Amino acid sequence: MAILFTNIKQLLTFAGDNAPRAGAAMRETGLVKNAAVLVEGAVIAAAGPRAAVSRHPLAKKARVVEVNGVCLPGFVDSHTHAVFAEPRLKDFSMRAAGASYPEIKAAGGGIVSSIGAVRAQAPGAMAAQLAGRAERFLECGTTTAEVKSGYGLNLESELKMLRAVRAAAGLTPLEMLPTLLAAHSVPPEFNGDAQRYLDYVMAEILPKAASQKLAVFADIFCEKGYFTPGQTAAYLKEAARLGLKPKVHSEQLSNYGGTRAGAAAGAVSADHADHVYAEDIAAMRKAGTIATLLPASNFYLGLTKYPPAREIISEGVPVALATDFNPGTCPCWNMQFVLAAACTHCAMTPEEAVCAATVNGAWALGIGDRVGAAVPGRQADLAFFDAGDYRELCYYFGANQCMMTVKKGKMVYRRRGKA
Ligand code: NIG
Ligand code: FE
Repeated sequence: MAILFTNIKQLLTFAGDNAPRAGAAMRETGLVKNAAVLVEGAVIAAAGPRAAVSRHPLAKKARVVEVNGVCLPGFVDSHTHAVFAEPRLKDFSMRAAGASYPEIKAAGGGIVSSIGAVRAQAPGAMAAQLAGRAERFLECGTTTAEVKSGYGLNLESELKMLRAVRAAAGLTPLEMLPTLLAAHSVPPEFNGDAQRYLDYVMAEILPKAASQKLAVFADIFCEKGYFTPGQTAAYLKEAARLGLKPKVHSEQLSNYGGTRAGAAAGAVSADHADHVYAEDIAAMRKAGTIATLLPASNFYLGLTKYPPAREIISEGVPVALATDFNPGTCPCWNMQFVLAAACTHCAMTPEEAVCAATVNGAWALGIGDRVGAAVPGRQADLAFFDAGDYRELCYYFGANQCMMTVKKGKMVYRRRGKA
């Protein structure tokens, strides 16, 4: 039966080109006041002014849901590390006492300190834990998330992480796209020999992840003490050859060259971009690489430097926003907090921020023609908020204003107390 979501105070459709949005187009939200959305099966049949949508032939027999709030396309969180066995509370205490991320790593914390528990975790427990976390994403209005491996750092455990993403997808309505991030850090058994580890990744892990179709993307952490731009270029080129779409963690802690290496390898997105310079931005624009900004991680690490969103947007590079949900630099799954951080610390407008969290997030995952906009023919992935104006999502922070989430036309979350 069709569902008519009506009495929507504001609907942001993001109707427009079937492409990532850049420059001024990031501020075109397709706002409709007093709106309705008609859903038939898993697809949006109509979206727009209430009066017009109500005249649609399917509307008469539809189940009617009175929204009395704001409706957006469901958030597309295009960068998460949502598979991890344990929170890193020791790192957290050190950070609270003033230690930086590199200092925490030097003291034995950081990425490699997540390895032990991940390698020891049973596959079923890993999938169940991820499915439990997926519910938290849905409650906050996220309908699609990318999920990276990167805490196993050997063949068995990296593939176990990717299989957990696949298994969890059968346990939750959250859509999850897996990314191989075996090149996240050098595990202790390689004694700091990044090249020897990367050779092993490229010979053993990458081909199996690709041939078993366990990942859509391949990612690498390009940073001093992790992997160099040259290694990044070689790894992403090989990943692309094997059919995995390249992504890169770049310019997070310093300007190191990962963004340019990623763009040259045809990366669909370059993520973090805190320390990008003009030449890095130009390389992204030339390659059609999306800049995925993760300001909640800057917030959590207590950094004063945030990515230069204004410069990136004015240079015509599409910007996506994502949580970076992970146990070390961002234990936050709420995209609404990311919107607030982007507006407050990156000088993004609320319109740009919501565009970056929906339509451009979808393009950062290569699925912008299917999700990310509330227009007829797109998948019915919608998030509804207890607000009168979409700007409230960026304005109130630290709270969850989501009252209902719809995935593929099904209500998958409804706040208690809502009829
Ligand atoms: O995106 N920079 C590398 N990876 C993560 C951090 C992962 C961790 O500390 O566990 C990030 O910030
Ligand atoms: Fe990350």
